[in-house]
Amino acid sequence: MNILILAAGQGKRMNSAVPKVLQPLAGRPLLGHVLLAAAGLAPSQVVIVHGHGAEAVREAFDTALVKWALQSPQLGTGHAVMQGMPHIENDALVLILYGDVPLVRERTLVQLVGLAGPRALSLLTVKLPDPHGYGRVLRDKRGQVRRIVEQRDASPGELRVNECNTGVMCVPAGLLRKWLAKLRNDNAQGEYYLTDIIALAVRDKVQVMPLIAEEASEVLGINDRAQLAQAEAAYRLQRCRELMSAGATLVDPSRCDVRGVVDVGRDVFIDVNVVFEGRVTLGDRVRIGPNCVLRDIDIGADTQVFANSLLEQSLVGRDCRIGPFARLRPGAKLADEVHIGNFVEVKNSDVGKGSKANHLAYIGDATIGAGVNVGAGTITCNYDGANKHRTVIGDGVFVGSGSMLVAPVTLGAQATIGAGSTITREAPAGRLTLERAQQITVENWSRPVKVR
Ligand code: UD1
Ligand code: CA
Repeated sequence: MNILILAAGQGKRMNSAVPKVLQPLAGRPLLGHVLLAAAGLAPSQVVIVHGHGAEAVREAFDTALVKWALQSPQLGTGHAVMQGMPHIENDALVLILYGDVPLVRERTLVQLVGLAGPRALSLLTVKLPDPHGYGRVLRDKRGQVRRIVEQRDASPGELRVNECNTGVMCVPAGLLRKWLAKLRNDNAQGEYYLTDIIALAVRDKVQVMPLIAEEASEVLGINDRAQLAQAEAAYRLQRCRELMSAGATLVDPSRCDVRGVVDVGRDVFIDVNVVFEGRVTLGDRVRIGPNCVLRDIDIGADTQVFANSLLEQSLVGRDCRIGPFARLRPGAKLADEVHIGNFVEVKNSDVGKGSKANHLAYIGDATIGAGVNVGAGTITCNYDGANKHRTVIGDGVFVGSGSMLVAPVTLGAQATIGAGSTITREAPAGRLTLERAQQITVENWSRPVKVR
């Protein structure tokens, strides 16, 4: 089986400088979704017909194992398929997909391909309450598909038909070649319509096997930004259903966005306005508060993330408390029972079991042992303007509030740092180290008064 993806159209109605098939849906270009579905079918090859914004489209998918066919100018869907045919293997079945129909499911496609054969083509259709704009699938009295008529070429009677062409079809390559050669453009749009091969198949007594899509959202074609938002909503709901059936409670599935792959344990709780990106794993009973963004992160069981936290490319152990307003940046590794509180930022640092930084702190390029208390307003001064340096903090250290730890620097185990210290040299284990100027009180001083 070969897959041919039509992606040459401009997408005028998007009103965008970005080619339509590169518009993002759930953070991934439309064409990327189609390629994912295609890859799931393990075709012997994938051919993309591109045209509008050709370079940008090729560049966006330059690592994909696909063949590219250029369609220029764009003279219709039939003409587009013709451009791809030189790449198609002779005895293959050709599955035709669309760069702007991103939500089509692998299992529907498997079914569709199964209906096609050397003397049979299969066609994915959909029944829509409002079929306006779509090509209509016309059947005879016995229910056999006879042909497809485009909206603009249809008679008033034909326009009343609500079974629509999705465009997705699977056709034996040899017959497809023959029919494509017979296409004409004497229609309302002056285009070579792929849809006309249906009537040609009927004339050649080749079986046309329709498959009606179960869900309309699956075959939603995206022409404008309203439809893009509609597809985003359909995608969101689908992903959220998966999370719920895996054991997560979602306060509102219309306010949770999964733009990647999320694995959840049981009895996970997800509050409103949470965005997941990349690969996210949440252990059993994890709770995510409202307005959090989680990107490429693994969170252990029983951990709670409070409102308005942004966590990315990090590892979080079990039973931690994070947020509200916490930020984990790439390379944060929190052991179990760690507390990272409000306005605390952690980057490229290991934080040991049970350690806490509860308020207003920056922990960057640090190795922190277990049972450490990082006081409010503490900062690891990791950057000297040219290079980054590490701060090493032993087990059981207590860092008083407002301390500046000028890296590279080491605080020995069980050391105590007096509040407000700027630590530039090693603080010995088990001792109190502090750095401060003498406090003075000025005698005979009075506040200035405003001059009249
Ligand atoms: C097409 C179908 C219509 C169907 C509808 C479903 C035809 C003639 N009509 O209509 O029956 O109901 O899709 O969404 O096939 N494309 C190219 N090159 C071209 C023209 C189009 O690559 O020269 C690509 C577009 O990028 C797009 C797809 O083909 O991905 C469909 O093209 P579009 O112009 O949107 O067709 P519709 O008028 O929607
Ligand atoms: Ca379309």
